[in-house]
Amino acid sequence: MSKTGTARTGTADVAIRLYGPEAFAGMRRAGQLAATALDMLVPFVKPGVTTERLDKLAFEFAMDHNAYPAPLYYRGFPKSICTSINHVVCHGIPGPKPLREGDILNIDVTLILDGWHGDTSRMYGVGAISRKAERLIDVTFEALKRGIAVVKPGNCTGDIGSAIEAYARGERCSVVEDFCGHGLGQVFHDRPNILHYRVNTVGEDAGPGVVFAPGMIFTIEPMINLGKALVKILPDGWTAVTRDRELSAQFEHTVGVTADGCEVFTYSPKGLHKPPF
Ligand code: MF3
Ligand code: CO
Ligand code: CO
Repeated sequence: MSKTGTARTGTADVAIRLYGPEAFAGMRRAGQLAATALDMLVPFVKPGVTTERLDKLAFEFAMDHNAYPAPLYYRGFPKSICTSINHVVCHGIPGPKPLREGDILNIDVTLILDGWHGDTSRMYGVGAISRKAERLIDVTFEALKRGIAVVKPGNCTGDIGSAIEAYARGERCSVVEDFCGHGLGQVFHDRPNILHYRVNTVGEDAGPGVVFAPGMIFTIEPMINLGKALVKILPDGWTAVTRDRELSAQFEHTVGVTADGCEVFTYSPKGLHKPPF
């Protein structure tokens, strides 16, 4: 996801790219390939496996399918996927530490296929996980679903934030404000920013954002915390963690606005939407 910057109110005066049927076909292929990579990784997520190994599997999957992993060397990111464990909110860097029973893990894959980006992430459980971890995963999954449900022409990007924030707060969870969804297509992080909240923790209204029009393509990727929303970045310059070290979860889909709603490009072909798989 992209870091929220100064244009966090979502400026309606900047042009948002609109895509036609050929682009939708390309995004469908890229999205399905990224989702297939996440499906492929399911049986490998087990105690003792390193995230470096998952990264290598994803890299090889990309190579085998004539695709390129967008994160690799993106702004200096060293790996092909992001692996974010437990209190890591996002942008975890795959490494040599083995997964442990009870960990929860987000794997975020972005593949470029024929120039089009498919960007998707989901949660995995390592062996048996706690009930509170399972609840957080369910809440985050439902939050993304509610965000997707408001995407149709006439509604606006701010409605996604309103829907997700209202639901998450009702579940006594918090919404991370430091990262957002983003326009996607032939560019990895494009306009518009898709905020997952409407009113932030200090009470500022981010505003309605941009009105949806058929042909817009973007990601929705809420990060939901069991504790407070506050995040910090570790000295590696990438890994974002909750300041209170409470669990965080995330799901991400790439969607395209249609005449009467939206098409989700990144559904799991095998129906492996969320754990338990
Ligand atoms: N896939 C992430 C997103 O959802 C971005 C990862 S970029 C990286 O936008 F450099 F951190 F890998
Ligand atoms: Co994204
Ligand atoms: Co992503």
